[in-house]
Amino acid sequence: MEKVSLVRLRGVTKRFDDVVAVDALDLDIYQGEFLTLLGPSGCGKTTVLRLIAGFETLDNGEISMNGSRLNGTPPNKRNVNTVFQSYALFPHMSVFDNIAFGLKMKQFDKKIIAEQVAEALEIVKLTGMEQRKPYQLSGGQQQRVAMARAIVNKPQVLLLDEPLSALDYRLRQEMEIELKRIHRQLGITFVFVTHDQEEAISMSDRIAVMNQGKIEQIGTPIEIYEEPENMFVARFVGEINVFGATVSCVENGNAIVDIHGQSFRVQNRKHLTSGQEVRILLRPEDIMVTRDEESVTSGPSMAGSIEEVIYKGKTIDLIISLDAGETIFVTQFFNEDQEDVVFRQGQRVHVDWPYGWEVVL
Ligand SMILES: Nc1ncnc2c1ncn2[C@@H]1O[C@H](COP(=O)(O)OP(=O)(O)OP(=O)(O)O)[C@@H](O)[C@H]1O
Ligand SMILES: [Mg+2]
Repeated sequence: MEKVSLVRLRGVTKRFDDVVAVDALDLDIYQGEFLTLLGPSGCGKTTVLRLIAGFETLDNGEISMNGSRLNGTPPNKRNVNTVFQSYALFPHMSVFDNIAFGLKMKQFDKKIIAEQVAEALEIVKLTGMEQRKPYQLSGGQQQRVAMARAIVNKPQVLLLDEPLSALDYRLRQEMEIELKRIHRQLGITFVFVTHDQEEAISMSDRIAVMNQGKIEQIGTPIEIYEEPENMFVARFVGEINVFGATVSCVENGNAIVDIHGQSFRVQNRKHLTSGQEVRILLRPEDIMVTRDEESVTSGPSMAGSIEEVIYKGKTIDLIISLDAGETIFVTQFFNEDQEDVVFRQGQRVHVDWPYGWEVVL
């Protein structure tokens, strides 16, 4: 499918006094996609949304939508709505009036308002709750009212600023599925903000990882998780183990790297050269652990001892202290029928990984 850029940011910069909240940012938001801005607190996520919505003015750069420049267009003239972290419902108004508020302000016909509110309530599955007040609703239901209010006038783009962060874990998971369903059902563009990497990975078509007002990497959840382009992205998007290594030789499409005196063969996708210092990155689930008393693999491996075994139900996490000095974090699927995956503290082990599963930086 041809990707059509609906919202386009070019060189977008926003300063607050001496803080550069958004720093010469370029971003294309595609028609109909679920795009997530992921990054640590203070990296500029909310500011990007507020700039798109028109609540903040740019210091530099340009934002366009459907090919027209938005600079200077007031928020209510942009085809964009926002769902905020705090639902910001009017406490004294009923659910119906909360959702209808914007339409009433625009003096829509009463009948049309009733129809559109009913439709929005159906989408968020709150039909029948029209007359309740916000205090008579659960957190999740209030969140749905906030959603209904934002989609009732059918915006082209919905901006969602950490809309699930006030909900407890269970409810959040439920609402994640709901949000995805609503996104599919409406077919509009969602720009979602979170600092939770799991939430970003499970919900998005694409993720833009932000740091200090810039985008470090943009891509599908798989690209971001499996092929991080730098250490910031690698570390921010889940646990990762990092080994210092030296390239000892380069052959067709492969390289041999030395880690603590052991030679490992890795894929050479980054034009490595002999003698180069690199880092080998491995996700906890990509590392294989072999107990010493088992037949040790013929390939190269690193020796160490199990420091901690943490049973997690579906998986067990192992903290392994390598003889060479590093402490690594490994996740193994847990299957009680398979006795050979039962590890204990103090056990001597060897670790390696399947060829090609490494990331070289
Ligand atoms: N109105 C403001 N006045 C001064 N500084 C601001 C203002 N709004 C944001 N900032 C600063 O700009 C930077 C980016 O803030 P922003 O709210 O966009 O971050 P964020 O990524 O949304 O963070 P969080 O995850 O904590 O919500 C921060 O350093 C913040 O302190
Ligand atoms: Mg924010």
